[in-house]
Amino acid sequence: MAFRIAIGNNKGGTGKTTTTVQLAAGLAENGKRVLVVDMDPQANASRRLGFRFSEADPVPTVSEAIKADAAGVATDAITAIGWDAPYSERISLIPARFDLENRISEAAVLGAVSRLRKALDGVDDDYDYTLIDCPPSLGHLTQLALAATDAAVCTLEPEYDAVEAAVRFRDFIDAQAAELKNPGLTVIGYIVNRVRSTLGAHDFQLDGLPDLFGDRIWCRLEERTAIKDAADSAAPLSALKSTTAKNQSSNYKELAARIIEETQA
Ligand SMILES: Nc1ncnc2c1ncn2[C@@H]1O[C@H](COP(=O)(O)OP(=O)(O)OP(=O)(O)O)[C@@H](O)[C@H]1O
Ligand SMILES: [Mg+2]
Repeated sequence: MAFRIAIGNNKGGTGKTTTTVQLAAGLAENGKRVLVVDMDPQANASRRLGFRFSEADPVPTVSEAIKADAAGVATDAITAIGWDAPYSERISLIPARFDLENRISEAAVLGAVSRLRKALDGVDDDYDYTLIDCPPSLGHLTQLALAATDAAVCTLEPEYDAVEAAVRFRDFIDAQAAELKNPGLTVIGYIVNRVRSTLGAHDFQLDGLPDLFGDRIWCRLEERTAIKDAADSAAPLSALKSTTAKNQSSNYKELAARIIEETQA
């Protein structure tokens, strides 16, 4: 049965999708089977994994799965990714499209927050990990993810607003987990992303992080063009030729190994 991890932060652009996608690659490199669930109407994870929604040839996405409000229905939305082997053999995707925005208005319907959990019921039993990419909000779409997941991971930048938003994400989970019928849900790890060691302001923020998040800070990832290039070209970092890309790819593989260790303990 898959261990589910929702990746979030209440601030945009902190690397939620980058982490979801490259961590899926890292887990696959560690031999794990991964299901990526895209819970953001921007559908960035879907595109970066090689998926394109076509109005002419529509397929079910996470939006239809949530709307259906039926146990196990997300199985119909699982699709192959566009990457090469071995990733294509180990990673599958439940994609998003902009229509996911329309699920937000259903928030007031009784039980609506449990619909992703219901849709995923039994669907990820054959995977080792399910990674759920959240939008930069604490609204209904993120709440659907938090209600369905075993654990949360937060990505942040060493910038004031991103750190504050990470605290909001953590405190929201602590306050709302029971309401989401997921008591005990916590942020198990923080990934500090886009670190620029030349910036004094970053050093200042980095120094303060242990006071806020203690030993839950899993790693620091530098700001590197290769990471952006991988996202733009919809590829795993290992598919890029540069040495930087290879080094960053190893970082995500190491991060994946740490997560495997943490979640099997
Ligand atoms: N470590 C990094 N080095 C360089 N570029 C990065 C790094 N991490 C993320 N990026 C780039 O920054 C942009 C934002 O990252 P990403 O899309 O992962 O953030 P996000 O938190 O998912 O954003 P959103 O809140 O919009 O969903 C992307 O263009 C991505 O390629
Ligand atoms: Mg994103």
